[in-house]
Formats: sequence, structure tokens, C-alpha cells
Amino acid sequence: MGKRYGYEVIGVDNYTDYELKASGYKTVNSKRYNYNVLTQSGVDVVTDDINNSKFIDKMIEEKVDYIIHTAAQPTVTLSITNPRYDMENNVVATFNILELARKLDIPVSICSSVHVFGNDINENLEEYEDRFANFPESFDEDYSFLKGKVTPLHASKAVNEIHGKAYIDTYGLPVGIMRLTGMYGPRQFAGMNHGWVSNFIFRLLKGLPLHIFGTDKQVRDILYCDDASRVFYDFYDRQVAGLYVIGGGVNNLVSIRQVIDKVSKYLNVKPEIVMEPAREYDLNYFVGNSTKAWNNLGWEPKVSVDEGLKLTVDWIKENLEYFEVNE
Ligand SMILES: NC(=O)c1ccc[n+]([C@@H]2O[C@H](COP(=O)([O-])OP(=O)(O)OC[C@H]3O[C@@H](n4cnc5c(N)ncnc54)[C@H](O)[C@@H]3O)[C@@H](O)[C@H]2O)c1
Repeated sequence: MGKRYGYEVIGVDNYTDYELKASGYKTVNSKRYNYNVLTQSGVDVVTDDINNSKFIDKMIEEKVDYIIHTAAQPTVTLSITNPRYDMENNVVATFNILELARKLDIPVSICSSVHVFGNDINENLEEYEDRFANFPESFDEDYSFLKGKVTPLHASKAVNEIHGKAYIDTYGLPVGIMRLTGMYGPRQFAGMNHGWVSNFIFRLLKGLPLHIFGTDKQVRDILYCDDASRVFYDFYDRQVAGLYVIGGGVNNLVSIRQVIDKVSKYLNVKPEIVMEPAREYDLNYFVGNSTKAWNNLGWEPKVSVDEGLKLTVDWIKENLEYFEVNE
């Protein structure tokens, strides 16, 4: 994508297999797939860890113009089983990147998650036949923060946001803090606890059971990958520092059950559902209001759920060999 826009891009990833392995998925082929896609599209891919101080020092010499920081431990579940790993790969890693941006005096985008809203949102939901509903339908940056049950992931993402604000306020650094909703699309190799849309699609294609925790009426405003990546370009163009809720919005509000129904119908398969106990930290409804991102960055989601699901299903179908499960 970078080359398409005329940028030279360095991609940094430690290619950890921690999350996918914990899901019982095999990782080697999927990691290699994305490595190849990036190198073939002209990205200079460096395999290293952003917690490696020698690597960070080397990046200072590269004199980059902008950093998009997406490396993370992204799951609630692994933050609970290994909070230190979460701390190191979210809090410390993001701090390292903010420091690098400060030393280079360049703009930086960092990623948070809608989890930081907290699940007190669950208290006021209405229950429809195939989904939960909330009025008002969407939440913006001013809605309350960290209310309800909080896990180490909520804490680390909240610290990322606060650190981002500290670097804006203290150093005047242009930091874009992207509070992202559930993302999906081609080339996402989902785990059991992260990337649920892609996870359900490949399991449906392989005839594997779908595990649902508590209820399939959970709602998200799912965000297609191209829409998600575009916000980082829009931020670089305008550099209006601050926190942004980045989601599919009310037009892309969909429940787990609705996604499974749409995909099953498209593939003409019957899903096997395994209901698991509810998790007390789950957020049963989230839909973002991205008016601030539109006003400040000119960003809005463009790909509809139906269009995005079709593109994702078609890609996974063509690349099913890369989705390997141990069980
Ligand atoms: N996927 C979603 O639905 C979602 C939702 C909300 C927020 N987010 C956030 O968006 C960002 C990107 O998410 P994603 O889904 O692409 O995650 P991902 O897990 O698919 O990708 C993260 C990458 O970071 C790499 N990585 C992890 N620790 C590293 C380290 N110390 N050094 C170098 N590389 C490291 C991993 O190998 C992985 O390839 C994350 O901050 C995540 O928390 C994601």
C-alpha cells in the first residue's frame, strides 16, 4: 500500500507465534504469507522486536518521517493469562515507539481498542431477536472510560492512550491515538480470541465448530481492513493530534449471529455452534461514532458489511491452505 501512495515503507515485526499457538493454530505458513506479500509489494521488512533497544537506536539513524505503530498483544484472554507479556508488548513497546517519535520529532499513530470504554455499556441494552440494541446507537470519544469490568488489556490500552496524550501535551508531538473497533478482511490470520469474523469464516469453510461465549447477540460496528489502514494515511496528511474512535459506525452495526447467518448463507453451509460460558469482561455492544475523525482527518468508513464479508470470504476460500489448526 505504501508504494502505491509513493512512500518508502519499513515494516517491523518480531513474527511472534504466541497468540495463534495459544489458539491451537499453526502459524508458520500464515506469518510467511504476510511476510511475502509485504516484501513483494516493496516493503523493507525487518524481523526485530520493538522492545530491543539496539533496534530502536538503529531506527533513529533511518530518519523515518512517520511511524504507524500497530504491533501489540491484542487479546483480552492472553492479557489475563500472561499480564507481564501484555505489559511488555503493549505498554513498554508503545512507550518505546513514542520515545522514538519524540527523538525524531515526527508524527506517530498508535492503536487502542474500544475495550477501554468498559462494559458498563452492557447494563442498558435492549434485546432484539438477533442482536442487542442501544439508544443512542453509537459512542464517541467523550463517553465514559474504563467503567465496568477491567482486564490487563483494558489497562494497557488505556495507558497507551494516556501516554499518547502525554506526548501531545508535554512535547507537542503529533500523535494520532486510534481507538479501533473489531477489524476484519483479507490477509487477517485470526486466532480464537482475536479477529472473530475471519476466525468464524475459516472455521465454517473447514467444517469446524464455532465457539461462542455467552451470547451470539453481541454487536460490533466491524471495520474493513482498507478503511482501517486509510485512517493512518489521513492522519499523516492532516496531523491533527488526538484521540479518535475508528469504527464501521451505525451503517455497519452487526451481531455475531447476523455475521454467521450471512456467511453461512453465502457459503451454503450449516454452522455447528458450541456455546461456551459468558466472560464477565465481554462488551456486548459497541458501535462507534467517528464524527471527530471525519471533521479533523476527513476519514470515514467506506466498505459495507456485505461487501467486506464477501471480499473476506472469497479471499479465505482461495487461501484456505494457510489456515491450519492443530486439533
Ligand atoms: N484486530 C482487531 O480487531 C483490533 C481491534 C481493536 C484494536 N486493535 C489494535 O490494533 C493493532 C493492530 O492489531 P492487529 O489485529 O493487526 O494485531 P496482530 O496481532 O494481527 O498484529 C500485531 C503484530 O505485531 C507483532 N508484534 C507483537 N509484539 C511485537 C513486538 N514486541 N515487536 C515487534 N512486533 C511485535 C506480531 O507479530 C503481529 O504480527 C493492535 O494495537 C491491536 O490491539 C485490533
